[in-house]
Amino acid sequence: MAISESTINEIKYRNDIESVISSYVSLKRRGKNLIGLCPFHNEKTPSFTVYPESGSFYCFGCGAGGDVFTFVKLIENLDYIDAVRLLAERSGVSVQEENFDNSLSKLKERIYEINRETARFFHEYLMSDSGKWALNYLTDRGLKLSTIKHFGLGAAPDSWDSLVSHLKNKGFSFSDMLAANVVGKSQKGSYYDRFRKRVMFPIIDIRGRVIAFSGRAMPGDTSGGKYVNTSDTPVYKKSENLFGMNFAKSHCAESIILVEGNMDVISLHQAGFRNAVAALGTSFTNEQAKLLSRYTKEIILTLDADAAGIKAAARAGEILKNTGLKVRVVSVPDGKDPDEFIKKHGAARFGAVLEGAVNEIEYKLLAAVGDIDVNSDDGKVKYISRAAEIIAESADAVERDVYIGRLSRKYDVSRNALSLRVDQIRKSNLRKDRKKAIGNIMRPKFDTNAPNPEKRLNPSAAAAEECVISVLFSHPDYFEEAYNRLKPDQMVTALNSRIYEKICNVLSQGEALDITAFSGILTDSQMGYLVSIINSDRARDNPFTVLKDSISVILDQRSKKSSSDIKSMDVDEWAENLRKVIENKKRGK
Ligand code: CTP
Ligand code: MN
Repeated sequence: MAISESTINEIKYRNDIESVISSYVSLKRRGKNLIGLCPFHNEKTPSFTVYPESGSFYCFGCGAGGDVFTFVKLIENLDYIDAVRLLAERSGVSVQEENFDNSLSKLKERIYEINRETARFFHEYLMSDSGKWALNYLTDRGLKLSTIKHFGLGAAPDSWDSLVSHLKNKGFSFSDMLAANVVGKSQKGSYYDRFRKRVMFPIIDIRGRVIAFSGRAMPGDTSGGKYVNTSDTPVYKKSENLFGMNFAKSHCAESIILVEGNMDVISLHQAGFRNAVAALGTSFTNEQAKLLSRYTKEIILTLDADAAGIKAAARAGEILKNTGLKVRVVSVPDGKDPDEFIKKHGAARFGAVLEGAVNEIEYKLLAAVGDIDVNSDDGKVKYISRAAEIIAESADAVERDVYIGRLSRKYDVSRNALSLRVDQIRKSNLRKDRKKAIGNIMRPKFDTNAPNPEKRLNPSAAAAEECVISVLFSHPDYFEEAYNRLKPDQMVTALNSRIYEKICNVLSQGEALDITAFSGILTDSQMGYLVSIINSDRARDNPFTVLKDSISVILDQRSKKSSSDIKSMDVDEWAENLRKVIENKKRGK
């Protein structure tokens, strides 16, 4: 962190959470708290709560939560430091970047530099005489020189150390090269180029920084897989980025075309469809959906007509639905990917494919035919009943009416009967939804186990730990009592142990406990977890008893856990464990 704690506290003090959140979300007062519609997921009844007293917010629908910095971070899609800066500007606090504990941000800067230098190295090699093989491959695939330059494409030489020596000569250290993941380290300890004899696609974030690479093998070269990609690094999370977003972002006010491959994105851009992006070889994620929803209104999903393609599109459609984005699905004819289709039929034909993009209902109605023989009476009945369920999903009465009409004409069934069936399904769905909604309030749907995965295995210990944390937030005066009986490393789950350790640090120095102390060290979902704990009612009645009982439960679970750990140890581990126990005894622990 490059901004001092006292500055951060001042910024927080001058940006009260109620007024900051009110500028994005319309809030209503309920008791001492405020509620509104959650801006982070699509909902009709408010489950988003702001707690002015603790300076926090939490959504019971999706589990998002944190302090004022977390809120700005999430809603403006910024990293922590930039969220702090934004709020500083808003309130006229001047931020001085201080020179302590900024090793991570320094490392990130060096990784960006290594990536930029690496991209330049690959691009120059591609354009040189020795890179002819790669340039020929790309131009044979129909890419123009201007496209190649626009995307900064490159090639990695057929060599184990060209990039390593180049970066070394530029003064970068081996450990930074490793951190950037452009270089690997052999068992013998020597460093080697991770990308060899491949065409290289740099992955660029929306601020124009090179964050990663994807390298495609030459056709027929089976050593090492078709694609080699950068693993996650301090500057790159595959699940949170999209290939081509840096270019698409200025052409996507209306819609974004989501495709599967990097080559598809590049071909589409070259053909004039500049709003294309691809998930980076992962299955589509919630984070990617969130990113898209900040830039556009509608997603056009292109899918390969094969079974895997349909499944992938269905999954993506499901994820996108939670963002409130409109979704249309187009099926590229001939089972081709967009790149192959454009090469064969040209841009205009692809434009026509996009025009005919069916909406989600139409697409589902098409796909529902599946292997049903709709010419038989049996098949017809089966298909109509599937179709009725699909139509019933639409919340729009006019839309339902249109499809009921079409279907009844097409299959020659009574419009009334079909309409009645759809209404029945809707009623039963509504009942189910209501039940689910009630369940969701009790149990946030974004899997509250996720921030603390160990909770599943140690439910009672984790619950007791949460009580300790909750009690200490509302009764910091119990700290001594808690700390005397329970040290941070005695907590069973690692996340709670970290939280408790921070609580102990703050309180033992006589400072006030404030969740902002955590917003720099916990991830967004961990912040949500913490906020849900401290704003719960766990500590309302008899907090002191709750605290003592919780500590007993934790210590009890702790000893059970270590004995079951011992059972599963092999001899060496067991001996090592024994050695540790003896050592600890000696040190009087
Ligand atoms: N991918 C990957 N690793 C693999 C295979 C695929 O990361 N072993 C990712 C790549 O990002 C690729 C996307 O999945 O762009 C789609 O894969 P595929 O359809 O096989 O590749 P194309 O992009 O169509 O590549 P090409 O046209 O060059 O064959
Ligand atoms: Mn392809």
